[in-house]
Amino acid sequence: MSNPEGNTENRAILVTGGRQLSGEVAASGAKNSALPLICASVLADGPVTLTNVPRLDDVLSICELLESLGAKCAFDGGSLTIDPTSITRQDAPYELVRRMRASFLVLGPLLAKFGHAEVPLPGGCNIGPRPVDEHLRALGEMGAEIEFKKGVVYAGAKKLRGEQVYFNITSVGATENVVMAAMGAEGVTVLENCAEEPEVADLVNFLRSLGADIKTPGSKRLEVRGGLALKQREPYSIIPDRIEAGTFLLAVAATGGGGTVKRCEPAHLTALTEKLREMGVGLRAEGNDITLAPNGRLKATKVRTQPYPGFPTDLQPQITTVLTMAQGVSVVTESVFEQRFSYLPELKRMGANIIQQDNAAIVDGTGVRLTGAPVDGYDLRGVAAMTIAGLMAQGETLIRGFGHLVRGYEDFIAKMEGLGADIRLVDKDYELKNNHG
Ligand code: UD1
Repeated sequence: MSNPEGNTENRAILVTGGRQLSGEVAASGAKNSALPLICASVLADGPVTLTNVPRLDDVLSICELLESLGAKCAFDGGSLTIDPTSITRQDAPYELVRRMRASFLVLGPLLAKFGHAEVPLPGGCNIGPRPVDEHLRALGEMGAEIEFKKGVVYAGAKKLRGEQVYFNITSVGATENVVMAAMGAEGVTVLENCAEEPEVADLVNFLRSLGADIKTPGSKRLEVRGGLALKQREPYSIIPDRIEAGTFLLAVAATGGGGTVKRCEPAHLTALTEKLREMGVGLRAEGNDITLAPNGRLKATKVRTQPYPGFPTDLQPQITTVLTMAQGVSVVTESVFEQRFSYLPELKRMGANIIQQDNAAIVDGTGVRLTGAPVDGYDLRGVAAMTIAGLMAQGETLIRGFGHLVRGYEDFIAKMEGLGADIRLVDKDYELKNNHG
């Protein structure tokens, strides 16, 4: 399986700013649902078909990982069929796991299905240390024996036990890994302080569609009965990508334009749409569409990232970028991944007025006009944010880090072009035209 964007290493994104975006763009299926759902297919007793699957690097990587264990994966347009019945190995190769942190999500299903798993500690986005202690502690409480050797986690359990597990941290990945592991446990596993992200709910709904018995009796609590045979009766459609949809909404608002993001789930985007309203953007949600009215200069606001339903950390770099030209002083506090401000120096080089104080960015957009520059994006959402900065800036902006972008956005360049952006791929050594001339 190859990436439809081809070789990404030598290419950079060139954006010429100043155009107002308009028109329509459709959201793809959610990357952060696709990854756990593909891992969960390991649990099924027959082939599983997922639809609305975004064809992007992270999805291709997780498929490669399952194939390295013996599974068969086949794409047909936006649908993906995974046959887990041919899996013969339970040791995930480091070369594949290091590409992204979400590969660690194979641990729970492999352990549940085969009684053991070997998974190297993950790599992932450059957004600071991202431990997996909560995943492992919970699995340990359920009876798994966990050992570390040379950076690899060895987990084994003759039979996992249903237990009462309390998560000390609200973690999307830990909740997902442990729910999948609980499928193979004896009795009922009760999970408390679970993450409530729509992608966690999508995993629960997918497992239920295979025949799992998972109850959601109260806030942040899941009750999972283990030991049931899981088999698919009809294809399962992945929810829309709220982070991709939010990135396009912010891009349109950043340019003062008006436009519609179609095929999204407005209920999953309330934290963002409320912020956009506060910033002075006129907005209408109808069915699966969100439409923005053209806006004048935006207003400053306060943003604090939090687990769902709070403001998503995966939209923090993008909204901070938009606020660099909003009237007044904004404060953006990052409370999920504290090292998620690596892009701030790049924005400053484009003329943004930002001071970082601990885990907060103080952004004064009064009178600011960004100017294009060569910039680096160090992680997926950082590159998306730099692209938005390029749309807002005068002149050309060259963004390096295209390889990060294709990990998580499907057809990003084409979708931006469809909204009227002046954007294209160039050689990474492209020399910018004089932006001040
Ligand atoms: C998922 C998303 C990612 C998003 C993040 C937060 C996927 C594939 N990725 O990542 O895009 O930014 O949720 O919404 O769905 N933590 C621990 N110990 C653990 C696990 C987590 O300390 O065992 C900490 C993390 O360092 C972080 C916080 O908990 O500070 C939240 O992380 P978590 O929800 O686990 O993020 P991911 O599942 O990795």
